Amino acid sequence: MAATVIDGKAFAAKVRGQVAEHVTRLKEEQGITPGLAVVLVGEDPASQVYVRSKGKMTVEVGMKSVEHKLDADTSEADLLGIIEQLNSDPSIHGILVQLPLPKHLDEDLVINSIAPEKDVDGFHISNVGLLGTGQKSMVPCTPLGCLMMLRDHHGSLSGMDAVVIGRSNIVGKPMAQLLLGDSCTVTIAHSRTKDLADVVRRADIVVAAVGRPEMVPGDWIKPGATVIDVGINRLDAPEKGEGKTRLVGDVDYESCAAVAGAITPVPGGVGPMTIACLLANTLTACCRANGLAEPDGLTA
Ligand code: GUN
Repeated sequence: MAATVIDGKAFAAKVRGQVAEHVTRLKEEQGITPGLAVVLVGEDPASQVYVRSKGKMTVEVGMKSVEHKLDADTSEADLLGIIEQLNSDPSIHGILVQLPLPKHLDEDLVINSIAPEKDVDGFHISNVGLLGTGQKSMVPCTPLGCLMMLRDHHGSLSGMDAVVIGRSNIVGKPMAQLLLGDSCTVTIAHSRTKDLADVVRRADIVVAAVGRPEMVPGDWIKPGATVIDVGINRLDAPEKGEGKTRLVGDVDYESCAAVAGAITPVPGGVGPMTIACLLANTLTACCRANGLAEPDGLTA
């Protein structure tokens, strides 16, 4: 039987709708408008596209959006100064510094200068530690989006075997923590894993986050398993015309969809959930800052 296609685009629109409703209530009942600040250093074209898209969606859900676009040669002291201002600005509940940063800036130092309660990326060392010990934290957006889709599809994940391929700080490691938090038996696989095919074949849930185009073939997938594809890779597509490209994930979609029970497509799967979860995290941060109840279903 063909796999159920998990429609991340529709799911993300639903999440943004829930966020927008909650924001309307916050404004009407409490006079509070959640605010998100995005800091972009330099002119990386992909980052510019992301930041524009984040700003547009922030405004669409009724939040305040602030953008700081800084020159590529901005000094560390100047960047830290801007973050400090945002940390102490009560109208800002979420701060995101777009990565990667230019080489002369220390990414860890910069991320760890964000007030942890405003760290809507969940990258601050305090949030990493809180997540790892099962305490309330800000959770990285992409893994949170994957978790929401998995919970929506399965209900409970308890007792399932999950394999996360990729050990990045942004996706692989926090994804594994979240799955563990939902009582999965979790394996983190990576480039040095022996017999990767056999490891993946045991999984009821496969999360692929390696950044290698179409590296997971269908014959690695246990029949009926759920496949979450975090990869976004651009390949040349001469068949579509000269200079054209196509987006593919980290799994070979056709062969995996023939075996899986459910699968996320690329594009239109995990991708749209990331910004939706950034907005959800900003709302959560705003509720916590004001001692209000957190939105249902939008946190880990
Ligand atoms: N660059 C690519 N993805 C991300 C992300 O999720 N957060 C930040 N801050 N930068 C990124």
